[in-house]
Amino acid sequence: MKNVFDLIVCPVCGSRLEKNGGSLFCTGEGRRHTFDIASEGYVNLLPPGKKNNAKTGDRRELIRSRTRFLGTGKYDRISDAVASLLLKYAPRDADGIAVADLGCGEGYHTCRIADAVRKSGAGPAAVGIDASKYGVAAGAKRAAGSGFSTFDSNDGSFLCFFAGNVFRPPMADLCLDGAVSMFAPVAWEEAARVLRRGGVLTVTGSGPDHLIEMRKMIYDDVRVRRKELPEPEGFRIAGTERLTYRIDLESREETADLFGMTPFACRVPESVREKMTERDGMTVTVDAVNTVYEKI
Ligand SMILES: C[S@@+](CC[C@H](N)C(=O)[O-])C[C@H]1O[C@@H](n2cnc3c(N)ncnc32)[C@H](O)[C@@H]1O
Repeated sequence: MKNVFDLIVCPVCGSRLEKNGGSLFCTGEGRRHTFDIASEGYVNLLPPGKKNNAKTGDRRELIRSRTRFLGTGKYDRISDAVASLLLKYAPRDADGIAVADLGCGEGYHTCRIADAVRKSGAGPAAVGIDASKYGVAAGAKRAAGSGFSTFDSNDGSFLCFFAGNVFRPPMADLCLDGAVSMFAPVAWEEAARVLRRGGVLTVTGSGPDHLIEMRKMIYDDVRVRRKELPEPEGFRIAGTERLTYRIDLESREETADLFGMTPFACRVPESVREKMTERDGMTVTVDAVNTVYEKI
């Protein structure tokens, strides 16, 4: 039976961690690295001394608008699709499925995916990792509210959140059966390190028509191009699925929240943002591509 310390390791020296009271500490010989469990329930395992850690993760306001938008349920079909792929392709043993959400944001999709694995009877042994402390703080609160055990789980089923960098994830080698990366940067080499052979990484990215109605309001010439799927070393593509549907944004606030989540939001002038939100909502296309990479 797994516990979270089979998955995560010290971000400083790579030793196994253990819990003592409200802290995690290294068990390696002579090591004294200690990490406190924050009041919200997450632990900060960002690599120390990295000045740009603070700039990597999403800001508090962005996390809040994403939480409001995801709470409408309009992106639920995306995490449903990811969960089905994970359950279809990830290997499982008597311990169920060990899974990490790499770049988990505020843990909305993480909790939904972990819940699908829980309902299938396969655990989960799950962690969410994001560079944003605001994100993982929200994730940890959501996990507690959804009835997941955390550090003190005694039945092998848990969901814990950590601030961490996906390019240096504080995770043990070969510890995962599955990993998901949804609209987040993908660290292929690290994903290959932490997945066991036959384990799968599902990568969710935007398809050519994603939010095309918004993009047409920004750019004169919107190129609708299908992106080539990367073929990273150490993986083979086991499957890919495109999910397209339309959603109604029912208020200018909802439009602003979704627009704020997009990569183009920070690149356009304020006048475009105003134009986008002057109407009481709009209809937009969701186009997500979920690709399953199997570690070979
Ligand atoms: C577009 S958001 C997607 C969040 C979530 N997966 C979702 O679909 O709602 C991208 C996330 O990646 C995180 N991120 C960016 N660079 C990162 C890094 N190097 N390590 C960990 N997280 C990172 C950001 O903080 C942000 O939460």
